[in-house]
Amino acid sequence: MLLYINGNLSFFKHSLLTHSDKMAASTTIAFALIACTLCFMSGTSLARLTPNFYSKTCPQVFEVVGSVVRAAVSRERRMGASLLRLHFHDCFVNGCDASILLDDTPTFRGEKTAAPNNNSVRGFDVIDMIKSNVERVCPGVVSCADILAITALKSVVALGGPTWEVKLGRRDSKTASFSAANGGAIPSPQSSLTNLINTFRAVGLSAHDMVALSGAHTIGQARCTSFRAHVYNDSNIDSLFAILRQSNCPRSPGSGDNNLAPLDISTPTRFDNHYYKNLIMHQGLLHSDQQLLSGGFTGSLVERYSVNPMSFRVDFAAAMVNMGDIRPLTGANGEIRKNCRVVNS
Ligand code: HEM
Ligand SMILES: *[C@@H]1O[C@H](CO)[C@@H](O)[C@H](O)[C@H]1NC(C)=O
Ligand SMILES: *[C@@H]1O[C@H](CO)[C@@H](O)[C@H](O)[C@H]1NC(C)=O
Repeated sequence: MLLYINGNLSFFKHSLLTHSDKMAASTTIAFALIACTLCFMSGTSLARLTPNFYSKTCPQVFEVVGSVVRAAVSRERRMGASLLRLHFHDCFVNGCDASILLDDTPTFRGEKTAAPNNNSVRGFDVIDMIKSNVERVCPGVVSCADILAITALKSVVALGGPTWEVKLGRRDSKTASFSAANGGAIPSPQSSLTNLINTFRAVGLSAHDMVALSGAHTIGQARCTSFRAHVYNDSNIDSLFAILRQSNCPRSPGSGDNNLAPLDISTPTRFDNHYYKNLIMHQGLLHSDQQLLSGGFTGSLVERYSVNPMSFRVDFAAAMVNMGDIRPLTGANGEIRKNCRVVNS
């Protein structure tokens, strides 16, 4: 450190500064270097995520994650949807920090049983497989939070969606928040358009991001309990579509709650723009989905994406990068978990 400062000060020998000016300047530089070194060491630097974070330490991570994701998706196409959703539910609760992956224990309540997650989120065994394969090639290097981000990308690509430059360098939390996961950080399917916009704004995402990210509902399934009220009680729904969805979702709560229906009626295992075409035809499965058509700005985006698949792909990719940037732990904060389900001891 001292050598570095002395080396950097050599140019003063040729300057016309007075001795005291030189002392002042060298003191300033020394303080700046010390401050920067300390902030780097403590992790409070403005560390940014970057696409090449593992280019020296684990360049194979993309291929290792991709091959497990492709195998899982070829066994069951829906798994691609479930894995994408894990990254979303992770990022919206105290940032993209893998908090959603922590298992409950007798002394710790994690996020897995919070209302939006309980009996709904899935894919944890695939994440375990990915983590153990990554640990085999680069032990102790890649965080579970980054694994979720790369897994989301590889899942979308495996189902025919766009690619993007995924940013990395997140670290894993040592805690989780049942109350935040349970208490509105993750939007409910009963949300109004205003609720949706506000929930996304709360994590720094725009209404534009919200409409583009909602296109994730071009893949995957929802349970009767998530769409019952919409198909029985709402009026902004195609009536034949409502009858079709009622047929596998009994009216009374408690019966058939876990019966599944595809979020995209036409191509539920292809990542395309049919989600938006459905909304135009009032065939959105969730109350919240159909809300996007009720606002001028969001409605015009729905129309644009429904006729312009390339515009959707570009905007979805950009919005995924924005979502992946939500409050990451970086530097010396958090840890690199050895097992994504438990904090390191
Ligand atoms: C705009 C607000 C959103 C709301 C209200 C919402 C709500 C829901 C609900 C209720 C389900 C069905 C859960 C169940 O019944 O088990 C679901 C499924 C899903 N969501 Fe969302 N979601 C939203 C945004 C997103 C975003 C931003 C993504 C990803 C970028 C996403 C990805 C998915 C996927 C892929 C599924 C299907 C999962 C599977 O089949 O396992 N959602 N969502
Ligand atoms: C989660 O679902 C299970 C099974 O339906 C239920 O027994 C449990 O009470 C639920 N947990 C919470 C916290 O709601
Ligand atoms: C439909 O609305 C009525 C009146 O508000 C309510 O009593 C009923 O529980 C709702 N049904 C569903 C399936 O949400």
